[in-house]
Amino acid sequence: MNELQGKNILIGVTGGIAAYKVVEVVSRLKKLGAEVRVIMTRAAAEFVAPRTFQEITKNPVAVEMFTGAINFHVEHIALANFADVVLIAPATANFLAKAAHGIADDLLTTTVLATPAPLLVAPSMNTLMLEHPATQKNLEILQSRGVKIIDAEIGLLACGTSGKGRLAEPENICAEIVKFFAPKILEGKKILVTAGGTQEPIDPVRFIGNRSSGKMGYEIAKAAQVHGAEVILISGNATVDAPKNLKFIKVETAEQMRAEVLAEFDSVDAVIMSAAVSDYRVKNVAAQKIKKDNETLTLELVKNPDILKELGQRKKNQLLVGFAAETQNVIEYAKNKIVEKNLDFIVANDVSKEGAGFAVDTNIASIITRAGEIENFTKMPKSELAEEIVLRVAERLSVCKK
Ligand code: CTP
Repeated sequence: MNELQGKNILIGVTGGIAAYKVVEVVSRLKKLGAEVRVIMTRAAAEFVAPRTFQEITKNPVAVEMFTGAINFHVEHIALANFADVVLIAPATANFLAKAAHGIADDLLTTTVLATPAPLLVAPSMNTLMLEHPATQKNLEILQSRGVKIIDAEIGLLACGTSGKGRLAEPENICAEIVKFFAPKILEGKKILVTAGGTQEPIDPVRFIGNRSSGKMGYEIAKAAQVHGAEVILISGNATVDAPKNLKFIKVETAEQMRAEVLAEFDSVDAVIMSAAVSDYRVKNVAAQKIKKDNETLTLELVKNPDILKELGQRKKNQLLVGFAAETQNVIEYAKNKIVEKNLDFIVANDVSKEGAGFAVDTNIASIITRAGEIENFTKMPKSELAEEIVLRVAERLSVCKK
């Protein structure tokens, strides 16, 4: 995982309690291969010792209050030129105001003004300060200049209140940086991804479900987004949080999923159908909770529509990717599905293998194409397999500019 190898990231830490979270941001960016340098404002150094950032980045940290610190007037140009991207986290209301109006009264704001590098800003503050028209206006000004705002999240704030203003989670901040550098090979393309497991009601409190966690599909949606695609994610039941900044449609049953998928199908370039769709549903769903009056209970099941098969029949130019979860004869069954459902390629896995299938973070898969080519992947994180799948979609949509 060296997505940020060779990238120079300059991080400006301003004076908010969330400064401690940026330690993790820096650590994650380093693990992804980035070269990181940090500038701290005086106030930031009240919250986290500059030494902490120095140790993680293995670079000197620029804090103006230190005697003998890096020469402000020369160094801000060097730092400004070092950066491929500048991230400000946490960004206080004060910083946003200064940056919006071009004020350069300390090392950080001077560097921000002097850098040709794009700027990402992750605000963090009390809800009222964030919602104040002055702050909102400053965010608008920055955005209109092409600054990327990494939205604050909702949660418990250091001031004891709850609301919007928490610094975005380190994981999300890093995802934004990775996204920023990723080649936009799916720019202008619309990708529909299905994920999770459908649930078919038996009565008002019970359903027939499956073990799908939604992880694979959510990772695919994220990877497509990273590569610049407009993503629609239609999801059944999942145990993971939905990715942000995409069209997210939650469904329960196979029939609901079918309706939502068909409503979007004509407008998309590709469909990646990773959802575990229930093959059957209960014929007569009980209006009231079923009581345990009898020794046996028989449920009559009827077949659900095969969504992917229907897409295969309707498709015009859309690329269709299916999934096959098997416990035996994986390749043979997968090949049959390609033909039966008119797919471009299929991702097949043996869910009986350890490290593959439901609930786990890894998968062991093969990608089989219509032409019969087979690529076998070793056990890998679902996020990496998602990347492989998305790259192959991009190649086939012939937008892969290498
Ligand atoms: N699928 C679908 N609609 C269904 C069932 C499955 O669109 N009603 C999709 C899944 O999202 C997946 C692929 O079809 O991409 C799986 O194929 P399928 O033949 O349904 O898989 P299994 O049910 O595992 O196959 P089998 O019936 O052969 O066991």
